[in-house]
Amino acid sequence: MIYPLIRPFLFRLDAEAAHSLTLSGLRLAGRFALSRWLLRSLFAVDDPRLETEVFGLRFKNPVGLAAGYDKNGVAVKGLSALGFGHVEVGTVTLLPQVGNPRPRVHRLPRARAVVNSMGFPNGGVDALRLDRRASAGQASAGAVPTRVGVNIGKGRDTPLEQAAADYIALLRIIHSRGQADYIAVNVSSPNTRGLRQLQDREFLEGLVTSLVEVRDALQPRLPLLVKLAPDLTEAEIDDALDVLMGVGGTGIDGVIVSNTTVSRDGVPDAANLAGGLSGAPLRARSTAMIRYVARQTGGRLPIVGVGGILEPADAIEKLQAGASLVQLFTGLVYSGPGLVRAINEELLRLCAREGLSSVRDLIGYQPAPARAPR
Ligand code: FNR
Repeated sequence: MIYPLIRPFLFRLDAEAAHSLTLSGLRLAGRFALSRWLLRSLFAVDDPRLETEVFGLRFKNPVGLAAGYDKNGVAVKGLSALGFGHVEVGTVTLLPQVGNPRPRVHRLPRARAVVNSMGFPNGGVDALRLDRRASAGQASAGAVPTRVGVNIGKGRDTPLEQAAADYIALLRIIHSRGQADYIAVNVSSPNTRGLRQLQDREFLEGLVTSLVEVRDALQPRLPLLVKLAPDLTEAEIDDALDVLMGVGGTGIDGVIVSNTTVSRDGVPDAANLAGGLSGAPLRARSTAMIRYVARQTGGRLPIVGVGGILEPADAIEKLQAGASLVQLFTGLVYSGPGLVRAINEELLRLCAREGLSSVRDLIGYQPAPARAPR
C-alpha cells in the first residue's frame, strides 16, 4: 500500500505535529461523502462474519481505535471510514487543559514503540465534537454502526479524594448528550499525578460503586469499562478484579487491558524518556495480562485487548488470550491505516480455514477442556 511511501515524510516531522496533520486530514476526509466513500473502499472490510456482540452492543468488527488518538472526537467519521469497528475518543476531562510541556511524544523506530507524556491535553467535555447519538447516524439502515466510546479521566488539579466527582459529572454530561455507546474509566495513564492510585482497592471501590449507582439510574443504560495499567502485580490485579466483579447494581461491563507501561525493560532507547511506553515492547506484557484476567474471571468480565498490535497476528494473539475486542494506536504510526483491513482480512481467512461462521467463535475465553480420566 502507499503508507510505506508516506511514512518517511511523516517521520521527518515531530511526532505530535505528524499526529495533528493526520488527524486534520481524517477530520476533513470525514466531512465529505466522496472522501468517506474513497476511504471506505480502500480500508473497510464489511462481512457479517466479523460482527460480534459484547456488553450488549453489536460491533461490526472487533478492531477498535484506542484512546488518545482523537482526544476531542473531531474525526470520528473519518476514522470510521478507515474500517474501525469502534473508536474510543478521549481521554476527556471536565475542564479544558493543556497537558504537559512539549516535546511529549517520542517515536522509537528501532523498538517500534512510542513514549508519550501528554497529560490529557483536551478541550474539556463541552468541546467534545460528537453528534448526538454519534454512532447511530453513521450506518445505513440495518448496518451495524461504528461504535463510539468516550474515555474519561480526572482533571490534573483534581485531588484524588475528589476524583469520583469528576468521573460522575463526566458520565452524567456525556450520557445526557447521548455522545457515547460506552464509557471507559481511565485510572491508568501514567502522566497525571496520582491517577494510577485510583486502581488501589481503597479508591477503586468507592469510584466504581458510585459510578455504577449513577449509571444504573440513567436510561438508556451505558456500559462502563475500566482501563487498567500493565504494571500492576498479580496481587494488585486480583484486588482490582475483586472490586470490579463485586460491585453491586448491574455492575461493571468490561476491562480494557492495557494502558501504556512505565517499564523500560528491554528498551534502552526509552530509558531517559518520561511517560508511558506503547507499541511492540508492550505486546507480550499486555497479552499475558489479558490471559491472566480471563483466567481469574473465568471469562465473565469481557476484555478489550490493547498494547503492541502492529500486525494481524498480534491481534489474533490477544483474541485467543481472552479478549473479545482489540484496540490499537501505535500500530497506526508504524504500520499505517491498512493494518485495520489486514487484521479483519486475516480474521476472515481464519474463519474460512477453521470452518467458522463467525469471528465470535475465535474470540473470548475458552476454558481448557477437562482432562479425560485415564
Ligand atoms: C495513549 N494512550 C492513552 N490512553 C488513554 O486511556 N487515554 C489517553 O488519553 C491516551 N493517550 C495516549 C497518547 C499517545 C500518544 C499514545 C501513544 C497512547 C494509550 C493507548 O490508548 C493504548 O492503551 C496504548 O498506547 C497501548 O496500545 P498501542 O499503542 O501499543 O496499540
